[in-house]
Amino acid sequence: MAFKSIAILLFFHSILLSQLHKSIAADQTWIKAGYWQNDITNSPNIQSINSTLYTHLIYGFADITFNSSTDQIIVTISDDETIKNFNSFVKRKNPSIKTILSIDAKDQSSSMYLLMSSTYFSGRKYFIESSIKIARLYGFDGLDFCWIWPSSSQQMLNLATLLDDWRVAIDSESKSTKKTRLFLTMAGQYTPWIQDLAFPIESMTKNLDWVHVMAFDYYDPESTNNTSPVAALYDSTSDLNTDYGINAWIKSGFPSQKIVLGLPFYGYVWTLVSSKDNKIGAAGTGPGPKEYSYNTEAENEPFTSTDGTLKFNIIKRDMIKYRANNSSYNSTYVMNYVSVGTSWVGFDDVEAVKTKVSYAKEINLRGYVAWQVSYDWNSVLSQAAAGEVEDIQGGVNIDQSGTLHKKKKLNRLILILIPVGSLLMLLLLVFALWCLRRRKVKVLKFQERIPRNKIESKNEDEETRTLHIFTYDEMNEATNNFSIDNELGRGGYGPVYKGMLKNGKEIAVKRLSETSSQGLEEFENESLDHYIYNQVRGLLLNWEKRVQIIEGIIQGMLYLQEYSRLTIIHRDLKASNILLDIHMKPKISDFGMARIFKKDGVEAKTKRVAGTPGYIPPEYMKEGIYSTKSDVFSFGVLLHQIISGKKNTCLHGPDENLNLLEYAFEMWRDGFQDGESSHEV
Ligand SMILES: *[C@@H]1O[C@H](CO)[C@@H](O)[C@H](O)[C@H]1NC(C)=O
Ligand SMILES: *[C@@H]1O[C@H](CO)[C@@H](O)[C@H](O)[C@H]1NC(C)=O
Ligand SMILES: *[C@@H]1O[C@H](CO)[C@@H](O)[C@H](O)[C@H]1NC(C)=O
Ligand SMILES: *[C@@H]1O[C@H](CO)[C@@H](O)[C@H](O)[C@H]1NC(C)=O
Ligand SMILES: *[C@@H]1O[C@H](CO)[C@@H](O)[C@H](O)[C@H]1NC(C)=O
Ligand SMILES: *[C@@H]1O[C@H](CO)[C@@H](O)[C@H](O)[C@H]1NC(C)=O
Repeated sequence: MAFKSIAILLFFHSILLSQLHKSIAADQTWIKAGYWQNDITNSPNIQSINSTLYTHLIYGFADITFNSSTDQIIVTISDDETIKNFNSFVKRKNPSIKTILSIDAKDQSSSMYLLMSSTYFSGRKYFIESSIKIARLYGFDGLDFCWIWPSSSQQMLNLATLLDDWRVAIDSESKSTKKTRLFLTMAGQYTPWIQDLAFPIESMTKNLDWVHVMAFDYYDPESTNNTSPVAALYDSTSDLNTDYGINAWIKSGFPSQKIVLGLPFYGYVWTLVSSKDNKIGAAGTGPGPKEYSYNTEAENEPFTSTDGTLKFNIIKRDMIKYRANNSSYNSTYVMNYVSVGTSWVGFDDVEAVKTKVSYAKEINLRGYVAWQVSYDWNSVLSQAAAGEVEDIQGGVNIDQSGTLHKKKKLNRLILILIPVGSLLMLLLLVFALWCLRRRKVKVLKFQERIPRNKIESKNEDEETRTLHIFTYDEMNEATNNFSIDNELGRGGYGPVYKGMLKNGKEIAVKRLSETSSQGLEEFENESLDHYIYNQVRGLLLNWEKRVQIIEGIIQGMLYLQEYSRLTIIHRDLKASNILLDIHMKPKISDFGMARIFKKDGVEAKTKRVAGTPGYIPPEYMKEGIYSTKSDVFSFGVLLHQIISGKKNTCLHGPDENLNLLEYAFEMWRDGFQDGESSHEV
């Protein structure tokens, strides 16, 4: 009984909380955005933009350039004057509008490839810095990353890293300059996948303000001859539709409040087999009449196009010219279409745009984005979209004084009621638990223990994730039966293969060759401890080499603590985690327990002390406090070992009762006293 009532209470509590979330979400600005592209073939008139109809305008495009003389990947622009005019014009007409500079990432050839290649850290760094610099220089409020087509899971991972670093850089720039933080957005495909590659949802959720979902181009006359729903909102016969794509984003864990729905302000033109059969799905023979082949005759042909696409304003112009006032709206797909003779155009007119905007509002998306503003005809689509928002919001935008005020009051009431309600429920819950405890102490204890243990063991998993054991079968599967195609290289112990785990993580697999004279020992130990504790191998490490190793480790630590964008605390620095290459150059490895801090994070606390005894500092051992100093302590221990060649897990000294640090201290004190006494003498 009591459990039931607790469950019911919790249920109501969560309903109240979700109400709170909803009311907060409603307060977030609804984004009415549009791309505005300037290029040689399309240089639209800035004066035609009615910026009062938008909250955000996205300028396209800045380019990614690789400067081979400086070895830097940077963001560049080629239309300096236009950008300046653009920003001053749209902001003069609408002072509250935000402008975003979009970076064209379409170029997969050189610079983009370098940016996405894993090792090119400095490339990423210059790219990020120059992007922020250019955005500020021209007075933009944000940055957008457009047309990204990662072509491997490695590139997807690198995209995630890029976004991580970008966000941190943007945050810290805002902090140090005290300017409003720049937006960071991205244009994404209609689903969170490119073929079978998944976009890095977690990184995108964490780092992006929102994503422009390009929900169009499902069909085109080059690839299908039948007239088709090119940007259908719904299509029960196929996955090629907006509703499917948006739901895929949400199902994959991307928050709906970060989805901005793309609206195409253009259509596609087909040539029909017969002017009489002009329904959606009618037989055609490819793209509509082409401007180039028709030349002067184009005057006599409606809906001419170079590649099958047609801007909304051209569609409208020709509809008027050819008196084609008979266009149809199909509510099954949510699209418009019109035909003149054998030219057939599928596009989004006012009806389709309105339905899509109200759909976005209904499923709690963040807003819409037009592709593109300059394709509009007398602002009819922009106006229809903006008007739809006002209709749905119950005139909030129109009746500023009345409705908005009421809404705010209501929100405040909810904000007060919810904590009070929660407190009351908590008290009831405690009371109910107390009653229960009194009645059936034994049962309750048992019930209590199960979930608690579960939570604890989960934490343990997370904190002590240092060693993951894989089965041979798993490795076999990951490397595609150790396929030659996956071979990365060979070492003394045998070949190394590239592989992919079930969760998409890329790995390298070393396979011990049957013919190798080396054994398990070499396979496991190519680290510093392999040399320094061994009488014979230790000889390979003369003082010069030891100093080189110490310097190398210091370089590594400097990178982790100072030069990387994030402060990284390794937490398990020890001899066996220092790998040595054939030149005895050291590399810090095994970041299984590492923790990442923002630059201003000083120290943190953990309940579960991870690390290796003998290497961890006393305050971490006792209280679980760790910071960059913990690694410095471990480094100190390591330094002792490299110099002395002694293990810190053994006991030392004449009585064999001292650990390495104590022993070193004794030696230092004795030496010091000896020195002093000899002075006295
Ligand atoms: C811009 O849009 C607003 C809002 O719909 C309208 O009142 C205004 O007349 C438009 N201006 C131009 C130049 O089209
Ligand atoms: C590359 O960088 C150098 C040094 O900043 C500069 O002088 C040069 O013009 C740049 N080259 C290109 C192609 O941008
Ligand atoms: C939309 O077009 C399809 C294909 O021509 C048709 O089956 C459907 O009935 C149409 N829907 C409406 C509401 O006209
Ligand atoms: C479309 O029809 C034309 C003419 O019949 C034909 O040459 C072409 O191959 C067809 N294209 C497709 C994609 O089926
Ligand atoms: C279409 O326009 C023509 C010419 O302007 C007009 O005669 C005709 O009545 C219109 N038809 C419809 C259905 O509005
Ligand atoms: C619409 O009007 C145009 C121009 O008058 C004509 O060519 C076309 O066949 C008409 N379409 C329909 C579906 O009636």
